Amino acid sequence: MISADLFPLRPEALAAPSSGIVEVFDYGRNKPGLLPLWVGEGDRPTPSFIAEAAQKSLAEGETFYTHQAGIPPLREAIAAYLSRMSGHNVGSERIFVTNGGMHALQIAVRMIAGSGDEVIVPTPAWPNFRGALEVAGATTREVPMRFGNAGWQLDIDDLARAITPATRALCINSPANPTGWTATLDELRAMLALARQHGLWIIADEIYGQFYFEGDRAPSFRDLMTPEDRILFVQTFSKNWAMTGWRMGWLEAPAALAPVIVNLIQYSSSGTPVFAQRAGIAALEGGDAFIAEQVSQARANRDQLVAILSAVPGFRLARPPGAFYLFFGVEGAADTRALAFDLVDHAGVGLAPGTAFGAGGDGFLRLCYLRRSEDVAEAAHRLAARIAARATAHA
Ligand SMILES: Cc1ncc(COP(=O)(O)O)c(C=O)c1O
Repeated sequence: MISADLFPLRPEALAAPSSGIVEVFDYGRNKPGLLPLWVGEGDRPTPSFIAEAAQKSLAEGETFYTHQAGIPPLREAIAAYLSRMSGHNVGSERIFVTNGGMHALQIAVRMIAGSGDEVIVPTPAWPNFRGALEVAGATTREVPMRFGNAGWQLDIDDLARAITPATRALCINSPANPTGWTATLDELRAMLALARQHGLWIIADEIYGQFYFEGDRAPSFRDLMTPEDRILFVQTFSKNWAMTGWRMGWLEAPAALAPVIVNLIQYSSSGTPVFAQRAGIAALEGGDAFIAEQVSQARANRDQLVAILSAVPGFRLARPPGAFYLFFGVEGAADTRALAFDLVDHAGVGLAPGTAFGAGGDGFLRLCYLRRSEDVAEAAHRLAARIAARATAHA
């Protein structure tokens, strides 16, 4: 506890939720032989052709202040990538380069929600949605998703019932971290209709859109929207191009918002380093094959993991259609925070407890499977053995 007499702080800063993932991570990070599947990143470094573009930029002396919205060739390369990937034309005037997806989310939230406002977030969800909203003074209104034989499902009627006069936005992450849930086009249509009807914004996080295993890409709001729809897309270089440490992303928004977004970038980061932006151009222009490799590795790992764990009694799981996480439960283990510590100690596997992802996550654990397939198979066997041993001990 920080003493309010000694250090008086703003309530929004104090209320920022701490990450339930970090707690387990800190406990197990130095354990020899541990397979770390708790954080949301793969095990490959950024491809060298991307890093080389940054080195070249630095060698050429690109070390000065830059455009707040991003250098024009990067904004154009992002627009070209989005147009190619989605099949819909996206203009570069809609693109604003940020320091990672997290910064894009911060700016989106700053524009539309603050004290007294509510934003609806289906959970389990990436904890940073709640963090960004609450730091801005807004309230997160969770809509718990349900897990059944068909996997994770969001009831659109639950979403509609959560709307109040204070609601400003729906925050929709599809394919989702941590569940892999992916909205169908009809579900997206229903959500867009709700947003239009109630005058709400949509914060659309489709960063895992290429990590979709039932088609070339996940259904997207882009397939339904007009440029004037109140949709703010949060995006990142982190996952597609293995660039989590670069802190590179972008916000896509109606072009009319440019003056406001540029100011918010100026007063938060004042822009993204030019050498990193050059790397971003290289990634967008030459990275399609790398993405395809990662997606096919993720698909194979997902199938292997599900096959191994489904053969053992006690796991509650369904094959996730997207992203690169398995969010699973274990019969008889309601306290998955305690189970996450147990698995560090007795299975040598690091997982994130479901409680870190909001109310809908109780009783589940998240495993990130974007790694060498040998590691994923080994982790699955260790988990299966530990869960079987616990079941025998409790029988
Ligand atoms: C759903 C979701 N959105 C956005 C991000 C943002 O990533 P970054 O801030 O690394 O760009 C993440 C990272 O884990 C995520 O899972």
